[in-house]
Amino acid sequence: MDKVELGWNEFWAETFRVKHRRSIQGIQHYDRMVVDFCIEALGLKKGHEILDIACGAGDQSIELAKRKLKVTAFDISDRLIEVGQEHAKADGVDVNFFTGDMRNMKFDKQFDAAVMLSHSFGFFNHDVNMQVLKASHDALKEGRKLLLDLMNPYNLPRFQQTWTELEGGFLLSEPHVLDAPAGVLTGRPAIYIDVEADRIVLMNQDALENNNIRMYTALEIKAMLEEVGFSRIELYGENQLPRRQYCSTSERMVVIASR
Ligand SMILES: C[S@@+](CC[C@H](N)C(=O)[O-])C[C@H]1O[C@@H](n2cnc3c(N)ncnc32)[C@H](O)[C@@H]1O
Repeated sequence: MDKVELGWNEFWAETFRVKHRRSIQGIQHYDRMVVDFCIEALGLKKGHEILDIACGAGDQSIELAKRKLKVTAFDISDRLIEVGQEHAKADGVDVNFFTGDMRNMKFDKQFDAAVMLSHSFGFFNHDVNMQVLKASHDALKEGRKLLLDLMNPYNLPRFQQTWTELEGGFLLSEPHVLDAPAGVLTGRPAIYIDVEADRIVLMNQDALENNNIRMYTALEIKAMLEEVGFSRIELYGENQLPRRQYCSTSERMVVIASR
């Protein structure tokens, strides 16, 4: 078998965010429940405009569009955006998908809500993470809300080495490791045995290095949101209805902030 090293866009995007995500049993049902929660918690009505920041392959963006919301969704990976566009077309819904970097996000009071789902916040150093929050704030109309769906830093999932059978191959994912003094969760190195192409796919240096997440506690994130102009910070322990109070053992840390 040949061995190839691929970058993040070529390797991780397709293998992990599309093939791996779709292999998770019940994922479509999960997405529908997350979207139910977003609609209720953000007070969304038909025709409202929502921004899905770091939308991945757009599974939730498409579900939001099916609920008659006007969805703008972007991701840094052009491959994921392509997949999102193909699926939206197949499902007969309109989503304004584009490739974009949240570090360059520039919207002005356009949206009735903005979401960052499946822990899509904290990829950069602290100053840049703050910049992303400020740009999210500026994207919202007055009084409207941002939702951050985050892992609970006090109750991280028990990360394990896992082998997953995917369409056309097998994925070996190493566990995330928490660098506690730095507050950083390191990315998951992974290897894909591509049976169809008879090759082993490894992550290149770029894919390995650009995969860390800065974890923030509720108090930290609340202070950060207030610093960029948000108020009325709400915390929930789940991304599904009914709303549950956030506590140290919650599955998630869902943060909602009003402009
Ligand atoms: C954990 S995934 C979540 C995807 C999607 N929100 C979901 O719930 O399935 C994080 C996403 O962030 C995207 N991403 C990483 N850096 C980004 C950036 N600078 N700007 C926009 N998207 C970015 C990745 O491509 C990936 O799709």
